[in-house]
Amino acid sequence: MYETKPLKFDPKSLKGISEKQITLHHDKHYAAYVAARNKIEEKLANGELDCIRELKKNESHNASGQVLHEIYFANLGGNGGVPEKPLMDMISRCFGSFENWKKEFTACTTAARGWVLLCYDWTDGKLHNYAVDFHDEGAVWNAAPVMALDLWEHAYYLDYGPDKAKYIEAFFANLDWKDVGERLKKYAREAKK
Ligand SMILES: [Fe+2]
Repeated sequence: MYETKPLKFDPKSLKGISEKQITLHHDKHYAAYVAARNKIEEKLANGELDCIRELKKNESHNASGQVLHEIYFANLGGNGGVPEKPLMDMISRCFGSFENWKKEFTACTTAARGWVLLCYDWTDGKLHNYAVDFHDEGAVWNAAPVMALDLWEHAYYLDYGPDKAKYIEAFFANLDWKDVGERLKKYAREAKK
């Protein structure tokens, strides 16, 4: 059984993302993916395999929804700005500069219908921006997200209506680069084992 992870910050404390918006997102949408994943695992454990294709498609959708939301919420609660070393160095190495990275990442937000992810890719040991539809279409095997930007309307419509660009600005203003850097450190450490 998976349990929802609590927000690490006061939901009233975000800049440009309201308490109601973040609370509904966390308590309703994210929680629904966790609950759905638990239900699917229960069916599998009970040997209910009649609709196996549907079950497995739903498993991928809900499990990915759970994981990406947990990274998204963990990424928030900071003060934005720019990352510290060694994350900054790695971004510069992989994209030419921090500005280049942000340009590509932001361009991806106009293409993705679900998420834009900054991923550590175990295949080449580099960072990549990946654009994902839903929660799992566009995922690249062997890559792990260190930063996740939720582009589903449920993430911003209450605060911004169709103005997705303003929401993306708010995401960056609340970004906890330390959390992103810690996740990258963990992955890089595991890659060296
Ligand atoms: Fe979401």
